[in-house]
Amino acid sequence: MKISVKGSLRDLFGFIRLRSSRGKRFAAAPSKPVDPGPVNELAAQLHPKRQNLLISEIHDETKSTRTFRLVPDPESDTRQLAYFRAGQYLSLKADIDRVRIARPYSISSAPREALGADGFYDITIRKIDDGFFTSHVWDNWNVGTKIVASGPCGRFYHEPIRDGNKIVGLAGGSGVTPFCSMAREIIYGDMNAELLLLYGSSDKDDIVFYEQLGELEAKSAGRIKVVHVLSCDEAPLPDCEQGFITADLIRKYADVDESTFFICGPQAMYDFVRQELAAFGLPPRRIRNEVYGEARDVSNAPGFPRTAVNKSFELTVRIGGLTMVIPALAAETVLVAMERAGLAPPSECRSGTCGVCHTLLVSGDVFVYPDGDGTRAADRQFGFIHPCSSYPLSDLEVAVPRSGL
Ligand code: FES
Repeated sequence: MKISVKGSLRDLFGFIRLRSSRGKRFAAAPSKPVDPGPVNELAAQLHPKRQNLLISEIHDETKSTRTFRLVPDPESDTRQLAYFRAGQYLSLKADIDRVRIARPYSISSAPREALGADGFYDITIRKIDDGFFTSHVWDNWNVGTKIVASGPCGRFYHEPIRDGNKIVGLAGGSGVTPFCSMAREIIYGDMNAELLLLYGSSDKDDIVFYEQLGELEAKSAGRIKVVHVLSCDEAPLPDCEQGFITADLIRKYADVDESTFFICGPQAMYDFVRQELAAFGLPPRRIRNEVYGEARDVSNAPGFPRTAVNKSFELTVRIGGLTMVIPALAAETVLVAMERAGLAPPSECRSGTCGVCHTLLVSGDVFVYPDGDGTRAADRQFGFIHPCSSYPLSDLEVAVPRSGL
């Protein structure tokens, strides 16, 4: 092996010179914040961290699913909506009993519909029976209600170079919303792809956007195909499939070798569909998952210690100059424990993937949900966790770097 000592020494001295010139520039820099400049100002406008929105319309889609149309609230300083990619979500915030709670919801309207002074986002929410957040939404969100939202987030969108032009959407329940946005984008001519949607519902009354999906398919000249898969015994729809989205069913409709698979639905559906997709031996980049919020029941997660299920621990939180000691249940995430105590830790995806809740674990042990470990190697090395996917297994101390919106 040939080792070029001369080259390495040159690099080393070059690096030492660079460090010293950088040090001088830091020392000479003004202590007040630098003017952001036009490029940074434009970037902040295009990708705002926070948007103030108003509900302008509400539609019931099914017995338990409702669409909220959100428009800018100029009185609160949002004059225009941020552009998004079809498939992205907003983190919506609500103050419930003086506790700020946030939940991610995919946008079901098309990106083009967010543009201009009349722009809007449609967000479709399914009411969960014991859902803290959705019960509040049902009881309190009316036309005219002001909502605080994040900018558009997430990477669950079609990227032609990476994904090719054949998409297979595997949806369950209200997980159809990002595919509705993609279908609209195809009809507008803004997305060059074909979409096959295999959409699982319990019965016909449970299908969200049944008519709209049919209309989009009819207008698409073959670029959109929707197959309803009903798990009930009767099959009251023409051409629908009965049962579940199995490997056989996927093979029947999809060009498996040429397609990229996008999955969005409840956690049980993810687990089922991902096992079915395993039969095809696809590389990971051809399977894309939307975030699905917190795990509903961690006690069944592989590796979760059964003896911990009913335990409660002490959680010491350092946040915004405060130190508080609060209770934390083993069956709930560290993020939920902080929110219950009235703190406002940052969050967006609530699934361990975006990194927004990134927090230092000073001491103690946590269980990390197997699908929710989006921490980077450097985070793990220096003791950072994602509280939205971490469950206490002992007394804990955490330091939250910044507060939420
Ligand atoms: S909120 Fe996204 S990683 Fe925790």
